[in-house]
Amino acid sequence: MKTSLKRARKYEAENNNSYLKDRPAFHFTPYIGWMNDPNGFSFYKGQFHLFYQYYPYGLGWNSMHWGHAVSKDLLHWEYLPAALAPENKYDSFGVFSGSSIELPDGQQLLMYTGVTKNNDKDTQLQCVATGDGINYKKFAGNPVIGKNLFPEGFNSQHFRDPKIWRAADGSYYCISVSCKNDGNGAILLFHSPDAFSWSYEGVLLENKGNIGKMWECPDYFELDGKDIILISPQNMLPQQDKYMAGSRTAYFCGKFDLEQKKFIPDFDAPVDSGIDFYASQTVKAPDGRTILIGWMQNWDTCNLTDRGNRNWFGQMSTPRELSLKDGKLIQKPVKEIESYRTASTTLNDVTVDGDFLPENLTGRIIDMELTIRPKENKSLNSFTINLAQSEEYKITLEYKADSHTLVFDRSKTEMRNALCSQSICRVSDSQELKLRILLDTYSAEVFVNDGQQVMTNTFYIEPSAKTISFNSVGSAVVNITKYDLHF
Ligand code: FRU
Repeated sequence: MKTSLKRARKYEAENNNSYLKDRPAFHFTPYIGWMNDPNGFSFYKGQFHLFYQYYPYGLGWNSMHWGHAVSKDLLHWEYLPAALAPENKYDSFGVFSGSSIELPDGQQLLMYTGVTKNNDKDTQLQCVATGDGINYKKFAGNPVIGKNLFPEGFNSQHFRDPKIWRAADGSYYCISVSCKNDGNGAILLFHSPDAFSWSYEGVLLENKGNIGKMWECPDYFELDGKDIILISPQNMLPQQDKYMAGSRTAYFCGKFDLEQKKFIPDFDAPVDSGIDFYASQTVKAPDGRTILIGWMQNWDTCNLTDRGNRNWFGQMSTPRELSLKDGKLIQKPVKEIESYRTASTTLNDVTVDGDFLPENLTGRIIDMELTIRPKENKSLNSFTINLAQSEEYKITLEYKADSHTLVFDRSKTEMRNALCSQSICRVSDSQELKLRILLDTYSAEVFVNDGQQVMTNTFYIEPSAKTISFNSVGSAVVNITKYDLHF
């Protein structure tokens, strides 16, 4: 083992007493230090494997490693030693994002971007390592997708995030992102008989300038008879009700035409309408479910958040089961979370008109389902849910019934900046709104109308703030079931 990985593993071992301090209850956080994207999300040797962009020695982005954890139920994770470190001539500046698969010989293959820096310029090329689920050996022939395969007209400082999969004929495909000189992202397609020797096949899909600028972290999978591509575009401009500004996630639903080597999208849409969801990846579970996880953070806001006394930074979203309904992506928290529900409180058909502070309805680590509708023959202007409330602070979720929009607001939290406090999502026109809220110590994930939309946001309020209250402008009738979650 080379020195950088040895050093990272030694550092992890020396810090083994501190890793459980001040963590969310059920959202994955790094063993120690900084975390961004999920990497190599896979099922191997009877467990889910989650790797992650990782800098163990500090709380900011720096020289990237791959951290590693395994889980049987996607909610309880066991940390394993760091899997990859930057230490070869082709990845000395960082081991960037990528994916993983199991090879026919039973080894796990990790495919990642090796980054080097020369005179302040990056070179990004695709590399592989193989291993047994704990220890990995980088391939002697790295980079496997080197400069010789990089197409003309693209910027080699931006060539990263390989997603590998095995086709029905046993050969391998990989998509990676790059961009043209105008900064618009594109997805490049590569093919290989064995996952080690690759050929360039063409541009699968490119940004026409309407979906952000550079694209990052592509993913590809089939879902209910359709082909889906996920991307994480940077520098989005808002598009009416559809996209918000900044670093976002989007999906294309359509057809992967292998003969033409083109992806033909029917449409694109946001994956998540919150501020903090990025670089998402999927795994196919042995029971057939397609499960999505994302980095629950945003590049535009991660430097604004006070790190407090915490020795970690960065969280992953709750893993979500994907399906298609009427051609649109539906997301639901993995069903495993239901086995962590303990006490429940239910309020049926309660009329709310003005402020409402229900007795016995409090909690910070909760799974809460609500339906909200206008009271018969009365009008409803807005309905607000206040969560994680203390004397000073709270987060709010306001449903504006006239415009059918849902607004998440974290402007009254322990954040000293005025930026990025709100996310807004247009919901369906139906009279009744259905919400499911997963609230954890530092985040709220809101699943709207059975998963038609999701809004994921982090926030920082002391964990003891547990008050839940409501406010209605006009008359609403609500049903609420709140489960405490215990992990
Ligand atoms: C996305 C990203 C990837 C890159 C990694 C570096 O968040 O910028 O494109 O591989 O993070 O840490």
